[in-house]
Order: sequence, then structure tokens, then C-alpha cells
Amino acid sequence: MRLPKQVNMVEVGPRDGLQNESQPVSIETRVKLIEMLSDAGLSSIEAGSFVSPRWVPQMADTDKVLAALAPSPGVRYPVLTPNMKGFEAAIAAGAREVAIFGAASETFSQKNINCSIDESLQRFQPIAHAAIEKGIAVRGYVSCVLGCPYEGEIEIAAVTSVARQLLDMGAREISLGDTVGVGTPAKAQEMIEAVSKVVPVEKLAAHFHDTYGQALANIFAVLQKGVAVIDSSVAGLGGCPYAKGAAGNVASEDVVYMLNGLGIRSGVDLNKLIAAGAFISKTLQRPTQSRVSLAMAGE
Ligand code: HMG
Ligand code: MG
Repeated sequence: MRLPKQVNMVEVGPRDGLQNESQPVSIETRVKLIEMLSDAGLSSIEAGSFVSPRWVPQMADTDKVLAALAPSPGVRYPVLTPNMKGFEAAIAAGAREVAIFGAASETFSQKNINCSIDESLQRFQPIAHAAIEKGIAVRGYVSCVLGCPYEGEIEIAAVTSVARQLLDMGAREISLGDTVGVGTPAKAQEMIEAVSKVVPVEKLAAHFHDTYGQALANIFAVLQKGVAVIDSSVAGLGGCPYAKGAAGNVASEDVVYMLNGLGIRSGVDLNKLIAAGAFISKTLQRPTQSRVSLAMAGE
């Protein structure tokens, strides 16, 4: 079996996780969570979004979160930027990496960012251009790669087309999102095989939500296809405000446990990661969604 020797984990809990909270999460909590994640060895931690606070109030004040973070050499804090307004605010706040986020589903694109797929790509172009000029890294997302909450089945061709256009704009990495967690391993492999024909597999990241309990199986499946960047969320926080019913991302603790068992390096300290998950779960007053955390707490 072909598996990567090392995996880069992209922690999305402070953004994809907290964006979905019904109660506001303080700036102090957001900062402390990010610092605990960085201390656990995560080197890419999505710190928030520069989107409309009317659409996603939970991500307001991302500028204050960035300002409060102690500098941590070698750690990146990407932030979501849907348009030039968001990009300019992100740069003013000191962001060094931005994420442009598109979708393979027209309806999801409309519901999430209020424009068509083509319009979104036109909006991303100047962001990518300005970012590259300033030496800011660009991450691209494609949502609904294995299904859409509004349209159901999604053609793989729609995924490959958006992924390729994000690559052509200069995205250094493209994260393929199973936004509603409906995917299963063979379909995930088929989708990765198709996308890797237009985007080198080294530039692909896998972003699985665990709604149907398939996320770890899907990760194991795509690792075998050469994907070596995995997005995950501490304590399995999250969902998407524009994908009703979507569960959180796969729990980071569960991914690290699986990688450790497979002998794949991630550079993440599982105990410290569990502590970060315990901190945020306690603050939000609800149980962790990480099976590994629950199991290890009971040992
Ligand atoms: P719009 O209403 O079409 O924007 O929203 P607009 O340009 O017409 O402007 C309307 C108002 O929003 C104006 O304010 C703008 O200034 C303001 P007003 O004059 O009415 O007071 N505005 C902004 N404010 C702050 N920051 C900005 C910004 N842009 C405009 N950047 C927009 C378009 C994209 C802004 C909106 O639809 C939006 O914010 N959507 C939120 C999208 C989002 O964050 N979704 C969740 C993340 S995506 C996700 O979770 C999926 C992922 O995890 C992968 C996966 O799982 O598949 C990434
Ligand atoms: Mg997501």
C-alpha cells in the first residue's frame, strides 16, 4: 500500500469550527485556542475569516485575533477572504496567507457567497494577483466536491474545473471539501484521481466533514492516492452555516491517532492537542466530538 511518510495537518477548528457556534466566542478564547494548537505542533492554523459580519457574525474581529497572537516562527495563520474588501482587511491586519473559497455547486456558491461559480472566480482573480504580488500565500478551496446540500450529486468535472482555475490563479494548495460529509472512500478516491490529472497531487488537501461518520475512512482512502495534506478541526468542532445539518470536520485528535498508528509523521503532539480540545469543549460547555479524546479520558 502506498502511503505518504509525512502529512501536513491544516487545523481549521478556529475558523470552520467556531464559525458555526450559536454563542459568541470571545477573542481571548479564540486566541488561546490557536496558541494551544500551535504549541501542540500544528504549523498551519486557520485563524478566522474576513467575511461579512452580517453573514457570519462569529468570525467578526478576526483582525483582533491576529493582532493578539504571539509571533510563532514557522506557524501560518491563513484567513478566508471572499472578495477584495476582505483581502484588504486581512492584509491590514497582518495576514500572511489567505484562502479563496469556491464551490463545485452553483446553488451552494449562491447561498454561501451570494454569487455564481464564474462570478466567484472573477472575484478571486484580483485577490490572488494582489496576494502573489505581495508575497502572500494563497490557498484555494472547492466546496461540495462529493455532494451538495442543495443539489445532491455533483459532477466530478465541476470539481476539476474549479480546482484547475484556482491553480491557474496561483493557489499554492487546493483543499477539496466534502462540505456535508456525504462522501464514501471509493468515491473520494475517484474524485482525487480525476482532480490529480489537472492539479498535481502534492498541491491537494483533503477536507472532510464527519456528518455520516465517513471522514477517517475517506482520509485513509485519499492518503493511498498520494494526498498528504489533511484539514481537520480540534474536538471535531464545526459545520458550515450554509450547509444545514453538516457536522464538524473530522476531529484533529482522531486524525493524529490514526496517522501515529500508520507510522506517518505529522509533527503534532497528541496529548497537547487533546488538551486544546478539552479547553475549547469546556469553554463551549459541550462534549468533544473526538472519539480518541473520549477514549483516552476514560483510560
Ligand atoms: P454580499 O451581500 O453579496 O456582498 O455578500 P456585497 O459586496 O453586496 O456587500 C454587502 C455588504 O457586506 C456591504 O455592507 C459590504 O461592505 C459588506 P453594507 O454596505 O451593507 O453595510 N461586505 C463585507 N464586510 C466585511 N468583509 C467583507 C465584506 N464584503 C462585503 N469581506 C459576501 C458577499 C461574500 C461578503 C457574503 O456572502 C459573505 O460574507 N459570506 C460568508 C461566507 C462564509 O464565510 N461562509 C463560511 C465559510 S465557507 C465553508 O465553511 C466551506 C469550507 O470549510 C470548505 C468546505 O467545507 O467545503 C471552506
Ligand atoms: Mg468546511
